[in-house]
Amino acid sequence: MPLNSLKIPMVDSLRKPIAEEIRPGVKVPAKDTILTPRFYTTDFEAMAKMDLSPNEDELWAILEEFQADYNRHHFVRTPEFDGSTEGLDPATKKVFVEFLEQSCTSEFSGFLLYKELSRKLKTKNPLLAECFGLMSRDEARHAGFLNKAMSDFGMQLDLGFLTANKKYTFFKPEYIFYATYLSEKIGYWRYIAIYRHLEQHPENRLYPIFNFFENWCQDENRHGDFFDAVMKAVPWTVNGLRSRLWCKFFLLAVFATMYIRDVQRKEFYEALGLDAREYDKYVIKKTNETAGRVFPVILDVDHPKFYEQLENCVQNNLKIAKIEESGAIAPLKLLQKLPLYASNGTIFASLFFMKAFRSEQALAAVQ
Ligand SMILES: [Fe+2]
Ligand SMILES: [Fe+2]
Repeated sequence: MPLNSLKIPMVDSLRKPIAEEIRPGVKVPAKDTILTPRFYTTDFEAMAKMDLSPNEDELWAILEEFQADYNRHHFVRTPEFDGSTEGLDPATKKVFVEFLEQSCTSEFSGFLLYKELSRKLKTKNPLLAECFGLMSRDEARHAGFLNKAMSDFGMQLDLGFLTANKKYTFFKPEYIFYATYLSEKIGYWRYIAIYRHLEQHPENRLYPIFNFFENWCQDENRHGDFFDAVMKAVPWTVNGLRSRLWCKFFLLAVFATMYIRDVQRKEFYEALGLDAREYDKYVIKKTNETAGRVFPVILDVDHPKFYEQLENCVQNNLKIAKIEESGAIAPLKLLQKLPLYASNGTIFASLFFMKAFRSEQALAAVQ
């Protein structure tokens, strides 16, 4: 038998996928948990009716920035991607794929929401519609670039499958503002923190995608500024007791989710020479400070109890993951997990009732 005809079956049988596949090269999306990125929908009518006149000038200026499209030529694959994953060991490849998948899903979730908003608001609120349309352009680029990066690892996400099969969470417009503002600003700090770290430690730059993070994070920063301007245009979203409670809730939910998730996949950060906990503490501190420019309250993230309690959640989640992996029957698993869920709920409540700072005070303290 000629050597060539042996070669293909051998390579195929030796090919071990680094993740579960729907079909060859297409990854089964990560199971939905409280920690995985969500897809959102909202009350489009209520959003369309919003009167933006109190801050319209700033929104027009932001729209001009979006139209300038500074990153038009940024997301272009360079030759350094070719063969860039060859030297990585399977364990590192696995954590990279998880990181890329989670990032791609978040970016794609932003794309879907912004695209739908731009479509639904087109005739009723053209200024908002135009801004959402241009932000969806950016998120499509980000998601596409990440998905292409996954293919360097022999995997891709089927984004059509994801669109059709993910559950959509309904949020009122003001919750969309809080959640997306925070996710844009936290995205900015996450990308820039990795970029600056790798600038100092080029030996840890294991894969070329990180070279793109500097300009990339500016897109996220501009998107965050857009939501900042929208909330200022609709002042009731950031004034009064109700908004203080909701802003506190969203800050806590976003920070806690990120911290628990990142500590669980600390190997990815280790591969880049970062400590997941230190990295997250930095990102949380910076995002919290940034949020003080528009949110009426921010959290006391320097309080020793804050991370002590989050660490208790990390431990609970590790136990939940072990139970899920065990061979026990579903009702028994649920019974075992219930006290852990209850404990997480109590922890979340205790963090929620910790004293927060009113933003004017907090900003004065950090200046
Ligand atoms: Fe993005
Ligand atoms: Fe964004």
